[in-house]
Amino acid sequence: MARDKKLIIGNWKMNLNVHEASLYLNKLEKTVKSHRNVEVVLAPTLLAIQTLSLQVNLRQFKLAAQNFYWRDYGAFTGEVSAAQLRGVVNYGLIGHSERRHIFHENDKDTRAKVQAAIRNDITPVLCIGETAAERAAGEMVDILHDQLIGGLANITSEEASDIVIAYEPVWAIGTGDNATTSDVLAASRAIRAQLKHLFGAKVSQEARILYGGSVTAESAASYLSLAGVDGLLIGGASLDAVAFSDIIEKAFESDKK
Ligand code: PGA
Repeated sequence: MARDKKLIIGNWKMNLNVHEASLYLNKLEKTVKSHRNVEVVLAPTLLAIQTLSLQVNLRQFKLAAQNFYWRDYGAFTGEVSAAQLRGVVNYGLIGHSERRHIFHENDKDTRAKVQAAIRNDITPVLCIGETAAERAAGEMVDILHDQLIGGLANITSEEASDIVIAYEPVWAIGTGDNATTSDVLAASRAIRAQLKHLFGAKVSQEARILYGGSVTAESAASYLSLAGVDGLLIGGASLDAVAFSDIIEKAFESDKK
């Protein structure tokens, strides 16, 4: 997928039940105009994915899994695999800080999930970012470097060109303390430099980079105007269909400039 479209992903986390998710989509379908230059992706609870996949107009919205297991099938009680999600979702979030910190997922897990997603025609959205302590210690670039290598070590340059990287500083997620545009620019430059090192100039230019962390309808435009930033990963503000459609509108407007 080329970088000519802005990518806006709404991560609902463990919010909205199946009925609420379906009502939300209904509302969003009415408020959001289809924009050729903006790709809008919803990441509902896994339970609602099947229902929404039957309801959604894929030209207007795509779906993402918030999580999945990296094995395709087998005796893994309670898990859902990328193989089972194949054809139902277009994207899969991998390595979200809540997965890393609450569920102790490590680079080995993210790496296996990136491969599982690619194997099953799901575009990986690899989430990376430093904690407040790592930031204070001046380790942001090192952390991004380690998490990128950790997640992407086993894929080819060809596979990497379709990847999405979400820069989500842990200290900015759900705190209201969003990163400044210069933080995000510095991170996106560091990510592209690392991608270049790993996969070459073409991948570094083609990969999509998103920012996520306390983005609101008010702050969205400032990130969307940054060269090298291709979209946003929205948590809290995506739960409000009006705020979320405002953000989508901002992405459309940023593209006209
Ligand atoms: P937030 O979450 O927008 O609520 O900070 C972002 C995310 O976790 O992806």
